[in-house]
Amino acid sequence: MSAEPKQILKAAGISKTFGKSRVLKSVDFDIFPGEVHALIGENGAGKSTLLKILFGLYSMDSGEGALYIDGKSVSFESPRDAIDYGIAMIHQEPLVFKDLNIIENFFIGYINEKVVNWRSLEKTAAALANDIGLNAPLKQKMERLSVAEQQLVEIGAALVSNARIIFMDEPTASLTPNEVENLLGMIKRLKGEGRSIVYISHRLGEIKAIADRITVMRDGAVVGTHPNSDLSHDNMIRLMLGHELTLTRKNKQINKKAEPYFRAEAIGIPGIFDNVSFSVGKGEILGIAGLMGSGRTEVARALFGVTPVKRGRLLINGVPVKINSPNEAVRHGIVLLPEDRQALSLFLKQTIAFNATFLVPDRISDRGGWINRGREEALTEEGCGRLRTKYAGAQQYVEELSGGNQQKIGIAKLIATNPEILILDEPTRGIDIGAKEEVYKIIERLSEEGKCIIMISSETAEILALSDKVMVMYEGRPAAMIPGEELNEVNILSAAHDLAV
Ligand SMILES: Nc1ncnc2c1ncn2[C@@H]1O[C@H](COP(=O)(O)OP(=O)(O)O)[C@@H](O)[C@H]1O
Ligand SMILES: [Mg+2]
Repeated sequence: MSAEPKQILKAAGISKTFGKSRVLKSVDFDIFPGEVHALIGENGAGKSTLLKILFGLYSMDSGEGALYIDGKSVSFESPRDAIDYGIAMIHQEPLVFKDLNIIENFFIGYINEKVVNWRSLEKTAAALANDIGLNAPLKQKMERLSVAEQQLVEIGAALVSNARIIFMDEPTASLTPNEVENLLGMIKRLKGEGRSIVYISHRLGEIKAIADRITVMRDGAVVGTHPNSDLSHDNMIRLMLGHELTLTRKNKQINKKAEPYFRAEAIGIPGIFDNVSFSVGKGEILGIAGLMGSGRTEVARALFGVTPVKRGRLLINGVPVKINSPNEAVRHGIVLLPEDRQALSLFLKQTIAFNATFLVPDRISDRGGWINRGREEALTEEGCGRLRTKYAGAQQYVEELSGGNQQKIGIAKLIATNPEILILDEPTRGIDIGAKEEVYKIIERLSEEGKCIIMISSETAEILALSDKVMVMYEGRPAAMIPGEELNEVNILSAAHDLAV
């Protein structure tokens, strides 16, 4: 006989298809008695779907895959079946009965009006509440409890059902640090009693603290299951993201002398982004990292007055300013290089001269208001020359230029306004590597000239190479503000994916 403990639950080859998308691809997963098994992976990796199948909330694709409890093949029609086999689930948003009280929620499913002895039920409930560290009055309705307390009630109910396996799907997402500590302590106790916990969290620190084994999921598949001690933070992030972490920060001199010049204080647009604060000094480059859709472009557009901020305030040199339109932005010395240069930044069917100068009609017209071709060309030459743009002549059409040279015209156009603050949204998207290097030099030179630069980029290498500090956005909120001296690929990517280290 083997001394190995037997798996209490084993899932083999589980798949799940929603419509056309196969969100679980032949997943193997198992649980030993008395272990904390962490399940990690980027959003959308399939973690919740797997647990929902193991809890009988979803059915797996039929014809493949099997579920075993204590070595016996089982199938779950509904959570009732899972509960009967000793499985319980604690939810991020507790699924409690809000208008029932604590006692009723503890014993939900076990209360039979006719037989119940309320006095003894109350006594048992009091002992249970004491046991799980729940201090609220037992007759309190659930809706009046905090999320942490409601979770404790769910745990209490799991204990009443004598669950051997407890699933927790991001239980700490909305808890305070103290509440997190309590929950982790609770999990250790449950484990000590021989129960098994499956624990989903983005917070890798928590995982490190409590997990025995860690299963990493990516794109609906299990990448691997490892003992906790075999995985470092870097390993976990690498496995979740599916690529090597190789980028290191170039030896950029961090600009620390910069006095704050442009500040955002808790700015937001309801439903779009919220609570964004930063300050950029003259000569400083603030990088904004994050996934596509995390709200970076929306912040840029708000700072430029395209869709003005609704909350918080903006200050330039300590003075609050209102920026309700791009015109107002330009008047305050703010310019934006939008991410979609072909649609938003340039008139492709117009000349280089037109594009490079149309923001500054005053600088190229005579007193009568007529465009002075000579001035227009001189200003174009000045701007484009500074950026080493390659073009045949000022009257050439922009659509004939390469992507990199188009981007330089876009920047030349901005520089013609003598801005103090440049917001660059994906300034090197879609341009070749040589042109990228040149754009980097331009950005560096502008910062050396004392401009405030805010640069959004999806390329971590670019963020690392240029930024004095980095704000990382996640789902419309700033997930991290990382000072230059602490910048590395791990902390940028982990904040961008909401993987708190
Ligand atoms: N009920 C559903 N209907 C359709 N697609 C779903 C449903 N639930 C989840 N998905 C999709 O399945 C994938 C995995 O989701 P999920 O299991 O919630 O991931 P995770 O919990 O790892 O963030 C995602 O692409 C998600 O959009
Ligand atoms: Mg989930």
